[in-house]
Amino acid sequence: MSDLVLVTDEGTVRIVRMNRPEKKNALTMAMYDAMADAIETAGNSGVRCLLIAGQPAAFCAGNDIGDFLAAAGAGGALGQPILRFLYALARCEIPLVAAVCGNAIGVGTTMLMHCDHVVAANDARFATPFVSLGLVPEAASSLIAPRLMGPARAFSLLVMGHPLTAHEAKAAGILNTVVAPDAVEAEAMKAAAEIAALPPQAVAASRRLMRGAPDEIVARIDAEAVEFKARLQSAEAQAAFMAFMTRKR
Ligand code: COA
Repeated sequence: MSDLVLVTDEGTVRIVRMNRPEKKNALTMAMYDAMADAIETAGNSGVRCLLIAGQPAAFCAGNDIGDFLAAAGAGGALGQPILRFLYALARCEIPLVAAVCGNAIGVGTTMLMHCDHVVAANDARFATPFVSLGLVPEAASSLIAPRLMGPARAFSLLVMGHPLTAHEAKAAGILNTVVAPDAVEAEAMKAAAEIAALPPQAVAASRRLMRGAPDEIVARIDAEAVEFKARLQSAEAQAAFMAFMTRKR
């Protein structure tokens, strides 16, 4: 297990914490694998609720753009650990809670669309700049976001790349609760403990009824990955990655 992701069990709640603060929790392949591992093994570990968290100033800055650049040079496929993590989210049978402070960019926002309960800081920011990076939405967000918030708001978020404030994200159906930054973790833990205390089989059955089979979500993850691979190799994307990696601040 990499220390870039910290996994701790508190009773029957498993906390999966992204831990790369110096890079604002931009996700590397090792981090995707570690997160997938924590989700996949939860069912056999007596875990009744998973809590995904980041750092006080950064939930997640999305995929590491240096990794995107490297992937583009190596034929452009979305790394297997990314797909493994996305499948783990889609197929997870245990409720997922998230605690969001700071920026949630790219997959930092789209992973929330797989969660059952999301708590965010009032200064959190949600953005999916896929298209301005020459890419397409991922994590089945092209399917889930229009259902969640309607096609017009989904287009603004996913294609135009307009960020959402915490209150806007709540109105769009991504979040449950907006609290002060220093209250996020406690509030999310409270929700996770409440869910973990419910009869687990009734929770699982209710969740299955509400979500349906994961096949449609998994198929959309795969369809997006095909487009993503083509886009990663595009001149548009490579120019955008290079611009980020060499930007002057
Ligand atoms: N990939 C690689 N490195 C990243 C990163 C990413 N997605 N996001 C942040 N970093 C790095 C920065 O390059 C910087 O590295 P350095 O200190 O070695 O120069 C460090 O993390 C801190 O980032 P910085 O931009 O200085 O922090 P900030 O608080 O000013 O801004 C963000 C935070 C998240 C708004 C900004 O970093 C950003 O826009 N990142 C890119 C997000 C993105 O487009 N993700 C892909 C989505 S598909």
